[in-house]
Amino acid sequence: MKIPTVFISTTLGAKIFSITTFITRITITAFATFGVFPTYAASNEVKIDEQSFSCIRDMTPVRHFYVDNLLGDMEGTLTSANAPQGAVYPAGSVVQLVPTEAMVKREAGTFPATGDWEFFELTVDEQGSSIAKRGFVDVNNRFGGNCFTCHVPAAKKWDFICESDHGCEPLPIDHKMTGALQRSDPRCGDAALESGDTLALVKLKLMITFGIINKWFEDLF
Ligand code: HEC
Repeated sequence: MKIPTVFISTTLGAKIFSITTFITRITITAFATFGVFPTYAASNEVKIDEQSFSCIRDMTPVRHFYVDNLLGDMEGTLTSANAPQGAVYPAGSVVQLVPTEAMVKREAGTFPATGDWEFFELTVDEQGSSIAKRGFVDVNNRFGGNCFTCHVPAAKKWDFICESDHGCEPLPIDHKMTGALQRSDPRCGDAALESGDTLALVKLKLMITFGIINKWFEDLF
């Protein structure tokens, strides 16, 4: 029997079509399962969880504090941190003075009031970090002070970075003490204490005992 050519080509066409559809479906499922698709779309999203924070001394030191960039733009973060007249930090920037507090620069437009900085209070131990509190204008540190309120005087020129002379209300602890806390960060393994650090840590302990600074650093001892 003679099968019309048009019938053969239609059947073949349908088969090829269904195989193509099948392959496309498998590919889409695989991409969706292994997350190949979303990676590109979300590449500028600053994703932050407890894995984003680790040993403070593995970050890059700038004067007396440490910086990092979760999106890999270390050059941008360092350029801002070292700008003599101040500059806006790029998205992904992480800034830390002590192991238990961090500021992370979120995507542009996330929270205009804080210049897109998200404030974090961390709990740290040998196992790593956990996030005790996070947010924008309403995060307080352990001694009840509000991160944003204290940092806001430095907002305009210095993008909320206080350091010693950017107009913020000073902290009750000095750089000898913040340095000693950095060098005894429990997430780093053995402490790398320098001369004078033990004394600084004893002073801190006394300040806590006498209520000059209460709960703030308690977890570190
Ligand atoms: C009493 C006011 C005050 C409070 C409350 C406060 N800070 Fe600060 N913070 C400062 C000052 C002042 C400095 C600069 C200290 C220095 O280097 O001499 C600083 C430094 C820092 C730094 C290092 C970069 C910089 O700005 O110099 C980070 C990061 C930081 N604070 C995060 C936080 C977070 C997160 C919170 C809340 C959980 C917080 N701070 C609460 C006043 C405060």
